[in-house]
Amino acid sequence: MSLYGVGLGPGDADLVTVKGQRVLEEADVVYSPGRLSRSVATEHVPEDRIGDVDFPMTRDEDELRRAWKEAADEIASRARDETAVFVTLGDPNVYSTFGHLRRTMSAFHPEVDTEIVPGVSAVTAFATALGVEISSGMSLALHEAARGAAPTGPDRMILFKVTDAPATHEKLVDAGYDVVYGRRLFMEQGETLVTEDPEVVVERDYYTLAYAEKHEVEYEPATAQFETSVDAAMRERAEGEAHGDVPPEVTSDD
Ligand SMILES: C[S@@+](CC[C@H](N)C(=O)[O-])C[C@H]1O[C@@H](n2cnc3c(N)ncnc32)[C@H](O)[C@@H]1O
Repeated sequence: MSLYGVGLGPGDADLVTVKGQRVLEEADVVYSPGRLSRSVATEHVPEDRIGDVDFPMTRDEDELRRAWKEAADEIASRARDETAVFVTLGDPNVYSTFGHLRRTMSAFHPEVDTEIVPGVSAVTAFATALGVEISSGMSLALHEAARGAAPTGPDRMILFKVTDAPATHEKLVDAGYDVVYGRRLFMEQGETLVTEDPEVVVERDYYTLAYAEKHEVEYEPATAQFETSVDAAMRERAEGEAHGDVPPEVTSDD
């Protein structure tokens, strides 16, 4: 049969796509790389369909290759005759463990067909959570910023893996950026935080990102004028009413 890589979204079971949910419900076995992805998956599949694979927390590449080979062997043994799913938080193709599985599968078990179901990535979910609009004409880069790193790139950046916010913050501010942090956005597990203060997110939590924007960037889309002209008209009307002016009657033909 086949293997599906399903993106679960940022960590809220309601943000799993309709297709992702259907694939999970129809799966014979569902594997997850961690506790959080497992807790989202089990809102759509019963615990007894969760498979068992082990992923060591190590940077030793030999050990990692061994672990992925073992995981791929186990998953292939089920995916040959049944439908197996490997879930990841966010999207399976964005900084995700699924890439290791896909490569290992195609090297050692090329007979297993693999299909990916995209998920809502933190790359897009952050914009809603932080109230940021990426309009046409803007450039946005995605970087990693672990252990206090502060890569600089275009005027707008998303930084993943912010594990030392104060150190990253100092360097970004020196480079001319305003920074907002988002922690556990759209996640059912843990407290959601959005803050401009790096001290609020000083405690290390892997599910922390930052959005950085250069101070001097000014972008005014055509429709921005509506906001200012409507605001001005409303202000004028409110001031007139406060001074006893009778507002002109509005008819349905106006
Ligand atoms: C290994 S990447 C996985 C990205 C994931 N595949 C995606 O598409 O969103 C993990 C990093 O993504 C960011 N991240 C993922 N989900 C997040 C969330 N719900 N809230 C805040 N940051 C998140 C964090 O910076 C974290 O260190």
